[in-house]
Parts: sequence; C-alpha cells; structure tokens
Amino acid sequence: MFGFKYYTPTKVVFGKNTELKVAELIKEFKGTKVLIHYGGGSVVRSGLLKRVTDTLDAAGIAHVVLGGAVPNPHLSLVYEGIELVKKEGIDFLLAVGGGSAIDSAKAIGYGVANEGDVWDFYDYKRQAEGALPLGVILTIAATGSEMSDSSVITKEEGLVKRGYSSDFGRPKFAIMNPELTMTLPDYQTACGCTDIMMHTMERYFTNGGNMEITDALAEGLLKTVKKNALILAKDPKNYDARAEVMWAGSLAHNGLTGCGNDGGDWMTHKLEHELGGLYDVAHGAGLAAIWGSWARYVYKNCLHRFKKFALNVMEVEAIGTDEEIALKGIEAMEDFYREIKMPTNLRELGVKVTEEDLEIMAHKCAVGVGGAMGSALLLKEEDMLKIFEMSM
Ligand code: NZQ
Ligand code: ZN
Repeated sequence: MFGFKYYTPTKVVFGKNTELKVAELIKEFKGTKVLIHYGGGSVVRSGLLKRVTDTLDAAGIAHVVLGGAVPNPHLSLVYEGIELVKKEGIDFLLAVGGGSAIDSAKAIGYGVANEGDVWDFYDYKRQAEGALPLGVILTIAATGSEMSDSSVITKEEGLVKRGYSSDFGRPKFAIMNPELTMTLPDYQTACGCTDIMMHTMERYFTNGGNMEITDALAEGLLKTVKKNALILAKDPKNYDARAEVMWAGSLAHNGLTGCGNDGGDWMTHKLEHELGGLYDVAHGAGLAAIWGSWARYVYKNCLHRFKKFALNVMEVEAIGTDEEIALKGIEAMEDFYREIKMPTNLRELGVKVTEEDLEIMAHKCAVGVGGAMGSALLLKEEDMLKIFEMSM
C-alpha cells in the first residue's frame, strides 16, 4: 500500500429541488457576479436554466449567460468565456450541465486567474496557480467532474483532446438533484454509467499498492452502478436508481477508489481521448468500445486483479484456471455493455477508421502520455496501435 493525498473540498448538496439552493451557495462562496455556463441547450429546454436565473434574480445576484459547450468541449469557446468574464467583471463561475460544460468552465477559470495561454496547462507546459471559484449544477451522472480535479478540452486545430488536473479545478460546490437527469436520452444514461464504472476500473486494474478497503469500496461501487444501470435501461424515471448512479459518479472520480494504490492505469481513457478528439464520439461509448480489447491485451500481466474483478464484481463461477476466470470476467463485462446498448468495438461505435487513422491515434496517444503509460501493463506506441487494431 502506498501513501496518498485525499482532498475533496467540494460541498455536495444532494436531493430533490436542491437547484433552488444555488443563490445561497454562491453567496456562501462570496460570488457577486456570475457566469452561467451550459451546453447545447438541454437546460434551456428542460426549464432548468430559467429556474436558476429566476433564483439568482430573486437573490439579487448579477449574472451573464454563455451556452454552447459541446461534448468534447472546444478551446475556442473557452477563449470566448475568458474574454467575457474579464469584460464583465465576473467573480464566480456556475456550470449547469454535464462534464463538457463543467470542464469548459474549469478551463475558463484557469484562463482568467492565470496570465498567458490557457492551453499551456493542457499541453503540459506549466501549472496553474489559481482558478476562479466554480459551482456546479449537475444534469448527467458520468464524468465526476463535479468533484474531480480534472478538465478535458479539445483544441480544434489538430483535433487534440487533452486533460489537465489541478486541485484549483475542484468545484466549490456541486448541486446534485437526481431528477434533473431524467430527461437524458437512454444512450447518454448508459454512456454515463460506463464512464462511472471505468473511473473506478482504471484505478482497480493496477499492479501497485492495492488496499483492501479501497477494493471493497470499488467493488461495491461497480456492482451498484451495474445493477442500477440495468434498472435505468428499463425504467429511466426510477428516482432511487438515478440517485445511486449520480452519487456513484462523484465517488468514482473524487479519488476515493484510488486511495493507496499506484494512481491507476488510465490507458483506456487515454486511448478513448484520441477517439473523442478525432471522431467526436460520446466519451462513455468510446470507453466501452476500447475496454474489451485493452483488457484482453493486458490481463495476463495483471491476472490477480482481473480474477478478483471477475469473481467479486462480475460474480462469475470460480471454475477453471485463473486465466479462464479472468477471461470470463472480461466477457461478462462486455455482455453487460451489450445489455445497456453500449458498443464493444469501433464498428459498433459507428466510426469508420482507416489503418492510417489508427496509426495517427496511437502516435498522438503516445506523445500525449510522454512515451509510455499504464499500470496493468506499460503500453508503448506499438501496444496502443495493437489495441486499436483489436478493437476494429
Ligand atoms: O449539451 P446539452 O444540450 O446539455 O446536451 C448534453 C449532451 O448532448 C446531454 N445532456 C446532459 N444532461 C442532460 C442532457 N440531455 C438531456 N437531459 C439532461 N439532463 O448529454 C450530452 C452529453 O453531455 P456531456 O456534458 O458532454 O457529457 P459528459 O458528462 O459525459 O461529459 C463528457 C466530457 O467530459 C470529459 C469527456 O472526455 C468529455 O469531453 N471527461 C471529463 C472528466 C473530468 N473532468 O473529470 C473525466 C472523464 O473521464 C472525461 O474524460
Ligand atoms: Zn471518463
């Protein structure tokens, strides 16, 4: 077991109608003029944005609105947001939406609080020394960005999708009303559940420092999300299932399920980020399309963890060799993806990929991780290419 830092400063307000607490929370964190940042319009159509602006108006909190954060949010909108915040004298950011709106808001926050080009942080050139305070009203359980230290932005030029992590990026508060997620298309609900599980699985499939308590939390979280994802596939308005998944989403990516281990593997995410950058696919679906190939490529080097996963999470029968049990666990996970209508390869993901594209993605991925990365198995560019080829 390794030592660790666990830092989760985000105040969580969870339950029905909690979005109505937004003004009092902004005041608690000393916000006086707010940029409300959102995505493509679901919050307008659902009436949530109007409820939020009415609540701020009633509390006398000035606000400016900036929509347009697309899935795999773009750097150009971040630049626009930075200019707007500076021009309007805004001192607090409020993201209303999912990971894309939240991540875009985080990047705006870095850009306002630090001199120079905000892309430098995503390009690993320097570290942020602060950020504008950020609050979140979450509308999709998925990325965990509402409590995480990370933000993922796509630079349109060259289609480069990169993440940046800093404790300054952790939101001051996160409002989580599971009812707000009931307007989600089924596909996005399933993508979210996939992403939540993957955040825990990235931390679970490691070769270093695992702890019993962390494993128990991780396995409980994975089984809970799996069970409730299946409930939501049939009964999307089930409040309790929405709530289970929503809270799991935050716990899966606030560091809890990684305490004591070596930091995790994260290569499924890194490979997916290349897909998301190039083909603009939904993040969760991209993860599902890659994971099986990654797992089959690496499992022998991390057999004890794959066996444990198969027995404790996928609950396969303990019959056969360790390898056979591990493979049954991988197959069971892919069966689960099919049940919630997630893809298990690039063809099912619906992207037409050429061999040249695969080489470009593997190369960009290797550059992005500084040459090689992975704990279940250290992957170099040639391994990344093989995994992409296996996922065709
Ligand atoms: O944009 P709108 O119109 O709001 O529609 C969104 C979008 O089309 C829709 N949606 C969200 N809430 C809804 C809703 N539709 C109806 N009702 C609602 N209540 O769902 C679609 C997806 O939204 P998005 O915010 O893009 O999804 P998600 O939360 O999955 O975020 C994905 C982005 O986050 C990054 C991903 O790479 C991707 O760019 N990630 C961020 C992480 C982090 N910051 O910690 C970690 C993750 O691993 C991930 O990489
Ligand atoms: Zn993710």
